[in-house]
Amino acid sequence: MGKEVVEYLVHDPSGIYIDGTCGTGGHARLIAENLSDKGRVICCDLDPRMLELAKRRNVEVGDKIKHLQCGYHEVSEQLGSEDKPIAGFLLDLGISSVQLEQGYGFAFKSDNPLDMRFDPESSLTAADIINHYPLQELKKIFKEYGELSQAGPISHAIIRAREKNRIKTTYQFKIILEPFFKKEKLNKGLAQVAQALRIAVNNELENIKKGLRSLTKLLHSGGRLVVISYHSLEDRIVKNYIRTYSRESGLPPDLEEVLENREFRLKPLFKKALTPTSQELENNPRARSAKLRAAAKV
Ligand SMILES: C[S@@+](CC[C@H](N)C(=O)[O-])C[C@H]1O[C@@H](n2cnc3c(N)ncnc32)[C@H](O)[C@@H]1O
Repeated sequence: MGKEVVEYLVHDPSGIYIDGTCGTGGHARLIAENLSDKGRVICCDLDPRMLELAKRRNVEVGDKIKHLQCGYHEVSEQLGSEDKPIAGFLLDLGISSVQLEQGYGFAFKSDNPLDMRFDPESSLTAADIINHYPLQELKKIFKEYGELSQAGPISHAIIRAREKNRIKTTYQFKIILEPFFKKEKLNKGLAQVAQALRIAVNNELENIKKGLRSLTKLLHSGGRLVVISYHSLEDRIVKNYIRTYSRESGLPPDLEEVLENREFRLKPLFKKALTPTSQELENNPRARSAKLRAAAKV
C-alpha cells in the first residue's frame, strides 16, 4: 500500500520521518523519494539481516536514510535532539515475506530450528516456549494470539511430546500439530500456530502499544502516524488507540481514565481502514489481510 502510505504520511517534504519497521526498505525508499533535500527517513528494525538488505537496496538514496537496529518501541531513546520532533511515522507491522522464506523458523514449509526471533540476539526462542512453558501458558498463547479453538488439546499434545524428546525443529513440531487440523485447513491452522508463537517470542502486541504512544509523543503538532496491520489482534490495538486519543466522549468505562489523562490528541484521517486494491492483491496476495489506518496529532 505504498501509494497510500506516501499520501497520508508525507505532508511535509522537508520533515523527519521514522519508518519503524524498515524490513527490506521498500516503504523507506518511497518515503525518501517524496522528500526534498532537507527531508530525512530514520529506519529501524529489530532484525539486522533486514537492515542489511535495506541498506543495499537503498544505497543510492544515500544520506537521506539512516538505519538503526532497534525496536520501534524503543527508538525514541536512541534519537538525538537533531532528530526531533518528527513529521510522521510508519509501522508496517508483522513479518516480511523475506523473513518467512529464510531459515528463521517462522513457517512450516521447510525444516528449520524453531527460532522465530526478529532480533537474533534476544534470549527467548520459539523452542524455549514449546519446551519449557507450562500448560496454561501454552494454552493462553494459542488461544489469545492464534485464536485457535484447539488451543487446549494442542498444548496437551506438546507437553506429551516434549516429555519424550526436546522439540527442536519446525518439522518435528508440524508432526505434533497435523492431527488437529483437517487436511484442507492444515495450512491455515499452521499459520495460526506460527502467528501465536511469533507474537509471544517477540512480545509483539505489547510493543505495538508501547511504540504507538512513544512515537506519537515525538510527533510535532500536525504530524502523522500511518499503521498497516495484518490480523485482527494488531488492528484492534491500532483502532482502539486512535479512538481513545481522538474521541471526546463515549469511551467504555475502563478507558475513561485514559480520556482524562491524555497527554496528546489525535484526529483520524479517515474513518474506515483502507484495504489493498485488487491490482495490488494480484501482485502481492499476502497483502490480502492488510488494513491501513492513519491519524494526525492535533
Ligand atoms: C512487514 S515487514 C516491513 C516491510 C517494510 N515495510 C518494507 O517495505 O520492506 C515488518 C518488519 O518489522 C520488523 N519488526 C517487527 N517488530 C519490530 C519492532 N518492535 N521494532 C522494529 N522492527 C520490528 C520485522 O523484523 C520486519 O522486518
